[in-house]
Amino acid sequence: MTAETIAAYIRDKAGHEPVKIGLVLGSGLGHLAEEVEGVSIPYTDLGGFPHAGVSGHNPKLVIGNLEGVRVAVFGGRAHYYEKGDPAAMRCPLEVLKALGAEQLILTNAAGSLRADIPPGDLMLLSDHIAFTGLNPLIGETTDARFVAMGDAHDADLRARLKAAAEAVGEPLAEGVYAWFSGPSFETPAEIRAAKVLGADAVGMSTVPEIILSRFLGLRVAAISTITNMGAGLSDEALSHEHTKIMAPRGAAKLERILREMLRNL
Ligand code: HPA
Repeated sequence: MTAETIAAYIRDKAGHEPVKIGLVLGSGLGHLAEEVEGVSIPYTDLGGFPHAGVSGHNPKLVIGNLEGVRVAVFGGRAHYYEKGDPAAMRCPLEVLKALGAEQLILTNAAGSLRADIPPGDLMLLSDHIAFTGLNPLIGETTDARFVAMGDAHDADLRARLKAAAEAVGEPLAEGVYAWFSGPSFETPAEIRAAKVLGADAVGMSTVPEIILSRFLGLRVAAISTITNMGAGLSDEALSHEHTKIMAPRGAAKLERILREMLRNL
């Protein structure tokens, strides 16, 4: 199915009003999808959307209103490590664009490399490093593939998120996110290497979606909820269980910031 066909199916169910902004919810951050007044469609009904293995229980797309703004909330994402496809989120993002959105906020769980950004805190991405060396546009044949990434993390959206964080009194750090393929966590040596290269946090998602967003002409910004210190930086044992337990601690803060940002959009 093409993105336009899927978008037409969604419009049929959820109405024709254009979507203003998309939100992709990361591990342990799915609660916001329940708060949207609107129509919920399981990914399994949307051919071309990632199905098996996608993070988030019963992943679904919710179209509706949040703080008076028409949103599309993606309650689950596909990761490169699931099937080895860095473009796994291309179809959902193409559909978002076809529904009229021009903006996107990505969220994720990440490990921190900075003692002053401890677990439970949030970090707005100022930039990123594709440590994997992978790119979701490999295989794309048009010249549109040569996407400029100098301003990939949208200045206006970041300013709005920072202003919203300040308005609700939630600290919001800023830093560089390094994308590792996963699914194994990093080694302590990899964490030290990432730090030397200028990373402030590490994770297994988001960067391919930022590249795809810029390719599609969506303005994009991303926020990490810090669930742990990077490998070797603390005594805690890393596990997905730990990520899922810790992510909701940042999720409430993240929700307050996102709601405030939407109120002022
Ligand atoms: N590394 C990679 N991905 C992660 C981490 C981490 O330490 N924590 C949460 N997601």
